[in-house]
Amino acid sequence: MKNLVVLSGAGMSAESGIPTFRGADGLWEGYRIDEVATPYAWEQDFRKVLQFYNERRRGVLQAKPNRGHEILAELESLANVHVITQNIDNLHERAGSSKILHLHGEITKSRSTKNPRLIYDIDGADLKEGDLCALGSQLRPHIVWFHEEVPMMEPAISITYTADVFLIVGTSLQVYPASGLVQYVKPGTPIYVIDPSASTIPGAENFKVISEGASVGMEKFRQMFLEEYGY
Ligand code: APR
Repeated sequence: MKNLVVLSGAGMSAESGIPTFRGADGLWEGYRIDEVATPYAWEQDFRKVLQFYNERRRGVLQAKPNRGHEILAELESLANVHVITQNIDNLHERAGSSKILHLHGEITKSRSTKNPRLIYDIDGADLKEGDLCALGSQLRPHIVWFHEEVPMMEPAISITYTADVFLIVGTSLQVYPASGLVQYVKPGTPIYVIDPSASTIPGAENFKVISEGASVGMEKFRQMFLEEYGY
């Protein structure tokens, strides 16, 4: 089986009703990143940060995987699929994908502000003031904020290097180091991109472009994959 490595971004979940970041009604249109998604924001007003992620978590829990997530999970019958996602939602998991690496954390988890290795599932929608880790410190969202290290980058690079086919779905490739993963695809490996505005993706001129949303685009990709690598 071919190794299919997928890098997904917010556009993967757009058809599930979860806003992207830099689109017309993008999330960062409504919030200042330095007020809700940086260590400084947490130091200045951790209650505001907790509320920001509680609101987003409720949206994720109400959302459902779309056909794009489902087709990606179905592709596991045709290929050895690894999903590397920038998304903090759990829609890939809920659609049935089995090998998923979250580069920017997971909104359904919290972690200790004393020891980052202490990670907990969040039961229900909210993480509250006074929810403490085993060491007695306030729990924070298990999310990689801007200006923080991306601890899963090394494993993501190793996975990317194994790709026989690399698929980019729903990301503007504007945020580093995640966007840098494309540099680790072995030369000569076909790279596909699924994005309605794929022409704005850096490097898209070298990619096989499917200018569609995730649901339609994933179906077209599946057809191309079957034709190219027929089973
Ligand atoms: N299907 C596929 N792609 C779509 C769809 C859709 N229905 N709708 C929009 N898109 C595309 C947009 O054209 C854009 O290229 O999804 C991409 C979304 O880009 P961003 O909003 O920048 O999201 P993303 O690339 O995931 O952001 C990366 O930035 O804010 C940080 O940590 C956050 O993980 C996030 C990172």
